[in-house]
Amino acid sequence: MADLKGLILSGGKGTRLRPITHTSAKQLVPVANKPVLFYGIESLAEAGIRDIGIIIAPGTGAEIREAAGDGERFGVSITYIEQDAPRGLAHAVITAEDFLGDSPFVMYLGDNLLRDGIVELVTQFRSKQPDALILLTQVPDPENYGVAELDGDRVARLVEKPKDPSSDLALVGVYMFTPPILEAARAIQPSWRGELEITDAIQHLIDAGMTVDPHIVRGWWKDTGQVQDMLDANRLILDDLDERIEGELIDSRVEGRVVIEPGVTLERSTVRGPAIIGRGSRIANAYIGPYTAIAEDVTIDGAELEYSIVMEGSSIRDLEGRLEASLIGRNVRIARGPAQPRAYRFVVGDNAEIAIL
Ligand code: G1P
Repeated sequence: MADLKGLILSGGKGTRLRPITHTSAKQLVPVANKPVLFYGIESLAEAGIRDIGIIIAPGTGAEIREAAGDGERFGVSITYIEQDAPRGLAHAVITAEDFLGDSPFVMYLGDNLLRDGIVELVTQFRSKQPDALILLTQVPDPENYGVAELDGDRVARLVEKPKDPSSDLALVGVYMFTPPILEAARAIQPSWRGELEITDAIQHLIDAGMTVDPHIVRGWWKDTGQVQDMLDANRLILDDLDERIEGELIDSRVEGRVVIEPGVTLERSTVRGPAIIGRGSRIANAYIGPYTAIAEDVTIDGAELEYSIVMEGSSIRDLEGRLEASLIGRNVRIARGPAQPRAYRFVVGDNAEIAIL
């Protein structure tokens, strides 16, 4: 088999993660202080894939290029491919045709996280040489995904977001393909949502009598398309954290698996892991509870936080209640206002969500 290439799709709009995605790409939201996208690049690199194309959108592409660069620090080479509009995953494959040439490839959705990586799958794909290999996992809400019906160990049928799912096996956003997928992508019609669905292109392969092998994923998988999934992914990654304390602790306590990066100061505070606090952050008179990721240059003073992600440059001060299950963007300020007149004062962007006591 020719050398495998990687194709990461990072062109989606991230509508379910607004307002964060009004100003930034969803694939760059940090999970345990690392952009979601980087986990995907690292998984491909770990499986020995060196040549990676990243599909970007006109609006957020520059930011993704800047973050991932030429790939050198991941030990790979990255080519950026612009998709003019989000016209579907199969359309993204067509857009990448020149990059793919006649290589087999792994397609990886840039907002997906797979705990166990893809090394085992790539090995199976290389040795068995099916025309395509798809990853499946049981989910409680199959109607929100592409759904597979199996016949023994064969894939019998695939349907994108069926109203009435015939199984609870969802398509995970990692696929292995050979060149016939390009022809299949060109043969299908747009779905009801106006997109060329990769699910339909794979069904086209099945209809043409090609072999599509299923692989059931055992470790956890997360599609980080929504806030709850993002927080959950953050929890799962933090659960595997190795403890490392490099900042300065003054009258403070750290319990459990905690990472405190260099240049952090912790004063009169308690951090109960799993949690991570990024470089240059200042935590004072605070409680940071389990499953919290605080990025770089954040100030937390006089507040309690738990099960949350706080992105870089933000500050949270003097809160009466505990902040929980929250996704706080970059350079956000949350603080108690002046005592009089007693009132809520907000400057909040479009699609924000605020829950007050
Ligand atoms: C896409 C695919 C779907 C798959 C899902 C996995 O859905 O169309 O088949 O199950 O990714 O994350 P989308 O994110 O476009 O709704």
